[in-house]
Amino acid sequence: MTATLNSQLHYRPVKLYDFQPPLEDFRSAVLEGLQRFPKSISPQFLYDKRGSELFDAICTLPEYYLTRTEVQLLQDHANEIATYLGNGALVEFGSGSSQKVRLLLDAAPQVQTYIGLDISRQHLYEACTALAQDYPGLEAIALCTDYTQPLPIAQIPELQNRHTIGFFPGSSIGNLEPAEAVKFLQNAAVLGDLIIGVDLKKPASILEPAYDDAQGISAAFALNLLTRINRELGADFDLSLFTYRARYDETFGRIEMQIVSLAQQTVHIGDAKIRFGNGETLRTEYSYKYTSDEFQMLAMAAGFQPIQVWTDAQQLFNIHYLKRL
Ligand SMILES: C[S@@+](CC[C@H](N)C(=O)[O-])C[C@H]1O[C@@H](n2cnc3c(N)ncnc32)[C@H](O)[C@@H]1O
Repeated sequence: MTATLNSQLHYRPVKLYDFQPPLEDFRSAVLEGLQRFPKSISPQFLYDKRGSELFDAICTLPEYYLTRTEVQLLQDHANEIATYLGNGALVEFGSGSSQKVRLLLDAAPQVQTYIGLDISRQHLYEACTALAQDYPGLEAIALCTDYTQPLPIAQIPELQNRHTIGFFPGSSIGNLEPAEAVKFLQNAAVLGDLIIGVDLKKPASILEPAYDDAQGISAAFALNLLTRINRELGADFDLSLFTYRARYDETFGRIEMQIVSLAQQTVHIGDAKIRFGNGETLRTEYSYKYTSDEFQMLAMAAGFQPIQVWTDAQQLFNIHYLKRL
């Protein structure tokens, strides 16, 4: 389904391609995840409107080195990255507030079309509209879909028969388990080459505060999932009976983010009864960390050839340029 939600404006109207999964998919994913042991729910459900706003707040935290390091890398290397962009379409996966891509668009004014792809529909549409206002020559398109599924390319004329390049910042690739990451990369390769931000392995003393900050914004972001389930699925989670933690598991090279039950309790979601033991966990996210070599192996397994990698002086973060084979 497509819709043009604004017209007669001084900027080009943003077209919305809406493939947002229905509420029923959310309900079945939540019930299935809560009946598993250990309990887990896919991180894509963290991003309702409030979740997207809380994530933006996380990006400004002193502990969250990821955003400022990746932004600095993009600033430092924008001109070089721009040489890879061509003049066709730039597709940003998990585009959120579409802030980082501005650095690329500033360096590559020849890009004709920007497609922001995100699961969080309202936030996506607002971000693409802000971009269209600030870049009046750019065709900005909002594509609301789940990037872990095959891309609906056949239904998007703007993606057909033209040079297209993908951009996947934020180290969101780390939310996927390695086999899922390869599958994502294979899907992305259908579009073309990919510029991707990947967080590097580092000590737990740096990683854990980044995902569990002193102000409690990361905790509010995770616990907002329970608020969303209460609101959208009619559940009765009592948020005062849950807390949040983030732990780095060095064996797997991943941060594990968990909601923890502070009591033995039963939660109702419609007719379903979900039991939590005292101390039982509900995983909301993984964030896998990769060395440059590890990530390049993953990319090669998905059909990309690593061409270039940019790293900051502190060796915190990588941006890779991957060429589709
Ligand atoms: C970690 S944030 C990164 C946002 C932004 N790209 C940045 O670098 O700051 C992840 C973004 O991906 C979106 N997202 C998460 N899972 C998704 C999925 N399965 N399909 C599409 N978008 C998803 C979220 O809504 C959110 O905007």
